[in-house]
Amino acid sequence: MANEWFESVAVAKARAKKRLPRSVFGAIVAGAEAGVSAADNLSAFDELGLRPVAAGQSAGCEMSTTIMGQPSSMPVMISPTGVQAVHPDGEVAVGRATAARGVPMGLSSFGSKPLEEVIEANAQTFFQIYWAGDRDSMSARMERAKAAGAAGLILTLDWSFSHGRDWGSPSIPEKIDLKTMIEHAPDVITRPKWLMSWAKNRSLPDLGVPNFPTGGDPVPGFFEAYGAWMGTPPPTWQDIAGLAAEWDGQFMVKGIGRGDEARRAIDAGATAISVSNHGGNNVDSSPAPIRVLPEVVEAVAGQCQVLMDGGIRRGSDVVKALAFGADAVLIGRAYLWGLAVNGQGGVENVLDVLRGGIDATMRGLGKSSIAELSMADVVVPPGFCPPAPPV
Ligand SMILES: Cc1cc2nc3c(=O)[nH]c(=O)nc-3n(C[C@H](O)[C@H](O)[C@H](O)COP(=O)(O)O)c2cc1C
Repeated sequence: MANEWFESVAVAKARAKKRLPRSVFGAIVAGAEAGVSAADNLSAFDELGLRPVAAGQSAGCEMSTTIMGQPSSMPVMISPTGVQAVHPDGEVAVGRATAARGVPMGLSSFGSKPLEEVIEANAQTFFQIYWAGDRDSMSARMERAKAAGAAGLILTLDWSFSHGRDWGSPSIPEKIDLKTMIEHAPDVITRPKWLMSWAKNRSLPDLGVPNFPTGGDPVPGFFEAYGAWMGTPPPTWQDIAGLAAEWDGQFMVKGIGRGDEARRAIDAGATAISVSNHGGNNVDSSPAPIRVLPEVVEAVAGQCQVLMDGGIRRGSDVVKALAFGADAVLIGRAYLWGLAVNGQGGVENVLDVLRGGIDATMRGLGKSSIAELSMADVVVPPGFCPPAPPV
């Protein structure tokens, strides 16, 4: 059997590109409109330098931490992603991988596996919801997550419903039936390994969204659930405070990009926020999260945990984010490439790549613990961080 191990996230991405049908690969690459933010999420990390020392490095690095009340073996957790058909084991494989590596995960309400199965694989699972459907259906989703033992709730707010992409959006069927199989055959037939993985599992991707329905309703298709979300008026901060109070536990607001809104999230009851632009899928030209992280960290002043996500592909990216004041980071596409390539083993591989990269970078910087990191370890070019918006 071929050796599926990979040495970097870039190698995993290249293999995923070969393995996945073009439409599935394209849905993961995504990025809004011209892809300015998606590109900036990556290039911003390249603009930041590091300041290594030549002697006196430490032999090992203490990187365990606590994320939203959950112990984590490193300052990295899995970001929720609602993406279908990547691997037959889907988020259950991600749950097993994260449990094996001792890190928490976020599970999307648009994910492909029921949250009860995922929580069974990893009890350190935070359930993610959007402001979607009527308020009673949101309460029902939260109740189900509570009953299943979710460790916390993530409310994601940064999505712009902008549907045009300059490179064209992948064609994703509403459901897999004979007609769509024939239509997509040319795309799929050239991906034998991907096909085999489903054949071995005696299944086909059904593109259902099992964490969305409430009250015994049938599992909707992806686009039906998306339509319900798109048709829901967005929440006010008062609405968000009501949801946080109802959840009454660890509560992350994901998608913050400004210091003033970070303060409002705290006032609304957030115990954590993630500085994010949805992996470049919010309003295009929104800055890379790493650029606005210092503004948010300053505004929060230690009153809740600050995480960030967007563009993390290597351990040194994690170290730069921590030096900028993040408590931890979330990863999205990086683990999806690993999942595509090798299921549970691929996600473990990605986590190992990041752990190794954090360790090597910390060693180079002469640090023995992530607690020692500060802005002084990073070379920040002039103009890297945009000025805070006037309030
Ligand atoms: C294919 C895809 C699907 C996503 N689905 C969700 C989702 O359902 N819920 C959510 O909160 N964020 C979602 N995100 C955003 C991720 O959680 C995360 O913010 C983003 O991927 C981080 O950027 P990165 O991919 O560069 O790591 C999605 C991102 C991608 C690429």
